Amino acid sequence: MYRTNTCGELRLSDAGREVTLAGWVQRTRRMGGMTFVDIRDRYGITQAVFDADTDAALHEAAAKLGREYVVQITGTVAERTSKNANLPTGDIEIIASALKVLNAADTPPFTIEDNTDGGDDLRMKYRYLDLRRACVRSNLELRHRMAFEIRRYLDSKGFLEVETPVLIKSTPEGARDFVVPSRMNPGQFYALPQSPQTFKQLLMVSGFDRYFQIVKCFRDEDLRADRQPEFTQIDCEMSFVNQEDVLNMFEGLVKHIFKYVKDIDFTEPFPRMTWADAMRLYGSDKPDTRFGMQFVELKDLTAGCGFSVMDEAEYVGAIVAPACADYTRKQLDQLTDFVKRPQIGAKGLMWVKFEADGSIKSSVGKFFSDEQLRAWGERAAANPGDLMLILAGPAMKTRKQLCELRLEMGSRLGLRDPKKFSCLWVVDFPLFEWDEETQRFYAMHHPFTSPNPEDIHLLDSDTGAVRATAYDMVVNGNELGGGSIRIHEAELQNKMFSLLGLSEEDAQYKFGFLMNAFKYGAPPHGGLAFGFDRFVSILAGLDSIRDVIAFPKNNSGRDMMIDAPSQIDEEQLNELKIKLEEE
Ligand code: AMO
Repeated sequence: MYRTNTCGELRLSDAGREVTLAGWVQRTRRMGGMTFVDIRDRYGITQAVFDADTDAALHEAAAKLGREYVVQITGTVAERTSKNANLPTGDIEIIASALKVLNAADTPPFTIEDNTDGGDDLRMKYRYLDLRRACVRSNLELRHRMAFEIRRYLDSKGFLEVETPVLIKSTPEGARDFVVPSRMNPGQFYALPQSPQTFKQLLMVSGFDRYFQIVKCFRDEDLRADRQPEFTQIDCEMSFVNQEDVLNMFEGLVKHIFKYVKDIDFTEPFPRMTWADAMRLYGSDKPDTRFGMQFVELKDLTAGCGFSVMDEAEYVGAIVAPACADYTRKQLDQLTDFVKRPQIGAKGLMWVKFEADGSIKSSVGKFFSDEQLRAWGERAAANPGDLMLILAGPAMKTRKQLCELRLEMGSRLGLRDPKKFSCLWVVDFPLFEWDEETQRFYAMHHPFTSPNPEDIHLLDSDTGAVRATAYDMVVNGNELGGGSIRIHEAELQNKMFSLLGLSEEDAQYKFGFLMNAFKYGAPPHGGLAFGFDRFVSILAGLDSIRDVIAFPKNNSGRDMMIDAPSQIDEEQLNELKIKLEEE
């Protein structure tokens, strides 16, 4: 037997017991004739003490141990004289009587501690060492507990977990596919699923009624803190449901997991906000509703005042930052630089200070009277001491810029508390999105999303105005999940494909299997998918989903540890009948 106990479980009540522990050397400290060795495993850290007076040779061996050596230590549990309140095992130590080095270790490239000296790249290259750190490990423990509980919950509601294939034909979810060449079918390629969307719909045609899968999805898209090229979804689908049924079911799941992980009770139903309101009030389809600072539109109040920036703008919008009228010139310049950054792209920032003494100062004061500025303040319910920040320009673009400014002010004012959770459903998304560049409509969600029945008559006449039966779950400004009620009639699905510019042949080639299935009795169905990595990272209070993935990729889609992607052998290429172009 390698060990009698783990490094995290011994307490004062174990004093006097003879135990054997196995683990990694966290550190050794030599103090005169005593050497203290902290030994670590997945469960915690325990201190062992080696006394030269008792056994000089054993003490010498302990003093020579390097960091991360794998050791086995036998000894007696004793009460510590100087206790460590920061460690669960801090009341005891092991008076060592035997030591065995199970494996030596090179000095690790960074310290295996919560506050490590290792930079991101180094930690990713040696991810297996990074995973030894308690703070990283605890994220994966949370991930495991959540996956387990989600499975348990969905099982209790009658959902069946069904695995779907990974080598498939392209599924359109808006990103590029990763493709895999087929050796047995030269010149032909599989695509890796961007999601199991079409398969879960086929399972509904098969009568499975309630499906879920915790499943890897693959998307070749630009990476960000909340995006990985391979990520995990909690993918779900139900038959004989309307939007209300789906929202209720999965609001239940989200509430259950919040209770389970955080002991937070959401007693009220999650608010619902239409996409149009989310864009109008927050400039985003995933508003962070932990704080107010909603947009106020001023176009009608600013019109015709001879100030061209506002006169010529399609949209003039403002937010009010509470108690910020004392912002200095420097702070205002910083905010101006913030909105002018290329990623945000505003031309400038205008402001009005409603001073505590009732006076008004403004960057546009020479174009407007105090009375006019006061009317803006009244519309925005600004109080004395508040600062109004204003942007003007094309409507959609300016709303997005104002959204960034609002989030920045929220962060500066400490209003985005990571311990607070604000969940909502965004509903009534548009069915289509117009793309200026290619001059055509794209499906905002995916082409299987059902139009809102009230808007079907607009499909030809006012395509852009048609609302979808689609919904997103938003938590603290993150899109946690999204889904829709699907089209289940072949005729409407064909109509959708044609509005998306797919010819009948194209649609048949790409989705013939689904269209055929719909001919054999497709039940009304709908569902959604949550981003599981996002769910875990939000509950862990982390900014990046990389921290909840055991072996993540960097922002260039590279696995730094195994060094992938990489070239393959000429022989493999020949088998696949693939010729590479010379660089
Ligand atoms: P959607 O494309 O909205 O819907 O994806 C669902 C959820 O998956 C998460 N997500 C990601 N997480 C990490 N990295 C990524 N690259 C990434 N892309 C998406 C998000 C998102 O809300 N088939 C539909 C669902 C449905 O209609 O049922 C789908 O995939 O949290």
